[in-house]
Amino acid sequence: MKTILCNADEQALARAKDALTRGEVVGIPTETVYGLAANGLDAAAVCRIFQAKGRPADNPLILHVAELEQAIPLFTQVEETARRLMEAFWPGPFTIVLPAAAQVPREVRADLPTVAVRCPSHPWVHALIARCGFPLAAPSANLSGKPSPTTVQTVWDDMNGRIPLIVDGGPCSVGVESTVVAVKDGRVRLLRPGGVTVEQLAAVAGEITVDEGVLHPLSAGARPASPGMKYRHYAPNAHVVLYEGAAEAVRRAVCAAYDEADEAQKRPVVIACGAPQRYGERRVFDAGGSAQVYAQRIFSLLRQADAQECTEVLAEMPDETGMGLAVHNRMLRAAGFQVKNVSDQ
Ligand code: TXA
Ligand code: MG
Repeated sequence: MKTILCNADEQALARAKDALTRGEVVGIPTETVYGLAANGLDAAAVCRIFQAKGRPADNPLILHVAELEQAIPLFTQVEETARRLMEAFWPGPFTIVLPAAAQVPREVRADLPTVAVRCPSHPWVHALIARCGFPLAAPSANLSGKPSPTTVQTVWDDMNGRIPLIVDGGPCSVGVESTVVAVKDGRVRLLRPGGVTVEQLAAVAGEITVDEGVLHPLSAGARPASPGMKYRHYAPNAHVVLYEGAAEAVRRAVCAAYDEADEAQKRPVVIACGAPQRYGERRVFDAGGSAQVYAQRIFSLLRQADAQECTEVLAEMPDETGMGLAVHNRMLRAAGFQVKNVSDQ
C-alpha cells in the first residue's frame, strides 16, 4: 500500500474525512501521542486498526469525540462525578471509562461492558472529528509493543506501507498518552497515569484510587483492570534498567554500570534528569529538568536508543508526583519492572 504524508491543514481535513468515511485508517496528530484513527462505529474499519498495528484483539480502543454532547450517547449512564471530570478536563489528555451503549461495536470494547472515551485538544484533530460527525477509534500509532510516536517521523517509520494516509501535526506537546480513569458508584480509579495528573483529578473528584497495575507487574493469572496493563509496552530493543534513590548515589551507581557495560563491549547510554555534564564523557540523553519535560521526551529518547544501537539504557527517574507518575508507569514497562534502588549505598 502507498502511504501519503500531508500537513495538518484545511486540505488534509477534507482528505482525512473522505478516507475515514470510506472506512480507512488514518495516522492523526493529537496533543498526547499520534493516533491510528478509524470510524469508531464501523466494526470493519476498527478491525483495520488492529491489523495495521498488530494489536491483540482483546486490548480495547479509545473513542475520540469533539465535545461532551457527542460522548453522552456512547454511554448507558453518566454519573455526576464522571460528568464533572469530563467538564473539567475536556478537551485535553483525559479518558473516561463508563458503561457502553449498544451502538459501540464490540471490537472497540474488546467485549468489555465499558467503553473508553476522550476529547482531544489538538485543534486540527478536534476539527476533523467535528467534521466527520462520528467518533474516531484511535490507539497510539506505533506497532504494538513499541514506544508511542510523538513525531510524524516515528509514525512514518512504523506505518509506512500499512495505512493510506498520515497527517503531520508537528511534535506532540504532552508526549505521553492520556490519563485513563474508570468511574463507578462515585469512585474514581486511575488505570493509566498521563497528561492529567492525580493531583489535578483529586482537586475535581476527591479521593482517587491508583490501580495496583499502574506501578506493579500483574501477578500471574490476575485479570487487569485495563487490558493494556498486561502487555509488554514501550520497549526499545535495548535492555533498560531504572535507578532510584538519592541523586549522588544514583549517579555513582549509573557510572559504575555504564563503565562495566562499556568494558564488556556493550553500548550503554544514560537517560539523565537534567545536568548531563554530571556524566562526563559518557553517552547521555538529557530528559530535562522536570517530569513534564521527561514526559515530552520519553518516547523519542527510547527510540533514539534504538536508532543509535544502544544495548543498555540506564535511566534516572523523577519522583512520582505530578507528571512523574506517568513517567514511572511508562519507564517501568519499558524496563520490564527492573529497578535498582541505591538509596542506602
Ligand atoms: O492519548 C491517548 O490516549 C492516545 C491518543 C492517540 O489519543 N491513545 C492511546 O490509545 O493511548 P491506546 O489504545 O494506545 O491505549 C488505550 C488504553 C489501553 O491501555 C486500553 O487497555 C485502555 O486504554 N482501555 C481502553 N478501553 C478500556 C476499557 N473499556 N476499560 C479499561 N481500559 C480500557
Ligand atoms: Mg498504545
